[in-house]
Amino acid sequence: MAVRSSSISVAVAPMLTKLQQDCATPLPVLRNVADSMSADIRAGLAVDGGSDLKMILSYVDRLPTGNEKGLFYALDLGGTNFRVLRVQLGGKDERVIATESEQVSIPQELMSATSEELFDFIASVLANFAQKGGNFHLPPGRKGEIGFTFSFPVKQTSIDSGILIKWTKGFSVSGTAGKDVVACLNEAMDRKGIDMRVSALVNDTVATLAGARYWDDDVMVAVILGTGTNACYVERMDAIPKLQGDFPSSGRTIVNLEWGAYRKGLPLTVFDRDMDAASINPGEQIFEKTISGMYLGEIARRALLYMAEEGSLFGTSVPEKLSMPFVLGTPDLSAMQQDTTDDLQTVGSVLYDVAGVESTLNSRKIVLEVCDTIVKRAGRLAGAGIVGILQKIEEDTQGVIFGKRTVVAMDGGLYERYSQYRRYLKESVAELLGPETSQNIVIEHSKDGSGIGAALLAATNSKYDRNY
Ligand code: BGC
Repeated sequence: MAVRSSSISVAVAPMLTKLQQDCATPLPVLRNVADSMSADIRAGLAVDGGSDLKMILSYVDRLPTGNEKGLFYALDLGGTNFRVLRVQLGGKDERVIATESEQVSIPQELMSATSEELFDFIASVLANFAQKGGNFHLPPGRKGEIGFTFSFPVKQTSIDSGILIKWTKGFSVSGTAGKDVVACLNEAMDRKGIDMRVSALVNDTVATLAGARYWDDDVMVAVILGTGTNACYVERMDAIPKLQGDFPSSGRTIVNLEWGAYRKGLPLTVFDRDMDAASINPGEQIFEKTISGMYLGEIARRALLYMAEEGSLFGTSVPEKLSMPFVLGTPDLSAMQQDTTDDLQTVGSVLYDVAGVESTLNSRKIVLEVCDTIVKRAGRLAGAGIVGILQKIEEDTQGVIFGKRTVVAMDGGLYERYSQYRRYLKESVAELLGPETSQNIVIEHSKDGSGIGAALLAATNSKYDRNY
């Protein structure tokens, strides 16, 4: 393909500058997001529907202590994969003795199938896994207990039941919204002849917090940055006006923000708006669409397509594949940004393999600028969201967060595998809090905290009196 490299920068430069301006996150923008996040948290705790943040009560008011013992299962449905785990817990001394797990990717068609089809799939993977036995066994007469991590907005009605509010992350399964997802799973398990019970239904953020807290008492917040995004934290029950009735003795509970629905003060571009309008949930999950893994590649693709069409970024013709929604994934952006070769070979091959684009060094540099702009905005806004939560807790009780070690447990593929994203997020937290305060805020990757966390919560909420 003939590429007029000299004319590229002339036409594209102002487009790139405009994109960078529209995505800019200087300190006042970050500060505004952090403050609005705190205010939204407060409004959502006051009354249901009080803000964009649902502030869902998790019913997890006993965190794992380390004394948990026995064999427990965890199911994890939330993004591109479904996972089933078996965890053998050994109490204070032995902790996690062993884990066995299996992971399958969710077939694309199941994401828009019927509720029965989706839950039958889950139950059959579980049945297969349970049949294989493994090295550890339940005592005779004891039912397998499951911690079910279900990573969508659910209105919890108890620790082991909850109604799906809506699907996110590209799922549009029919017949589940408005239903108790544990009942859906129980029915599917009955159909497959599986005799187990769900003892805890949890969001992935809540499972991550529980899993990380098992090892470290200073964990106060958990954040998922993967296909989707969300956060939860440990809140005092008397700071939750919408919570009526008697409080359990712990006096604290985990609250799930569902921060993907946050929307105030975000620097958005025409590409974000177009992507949102074309999505299956227009107008919803705006924070999620700006900062999470499912969308970053697509925002970049839209910006690049525009530059190709209007600025001849890749020469006179526009590669057809570049017009396909979601053809460029966030892992592709990450792969390109790790390129350290002089002629940006990886950028060239990713563009060619994924989008059928032939590129010059000049256009590859612009592609990298576009990726960096989108990822920088995302990482920095995620950091501002975290500071918003910390600020809210500190405002209520001074000294609870700032001035002492506080851990934010992070999980999700985007955080784990995109080094630039991680760096921008941490920079933003440090900028907002200042060098002294931010020194005590430990942002820590909690690898697979959510799997173990769900099993731990199954143990904490076991219907059997005694661990064995
Ligand atoms: C869901 C949350 C979940 C998050 C991360 C969002 O789309 O609404 O419930 O925690 O993704 O998986």
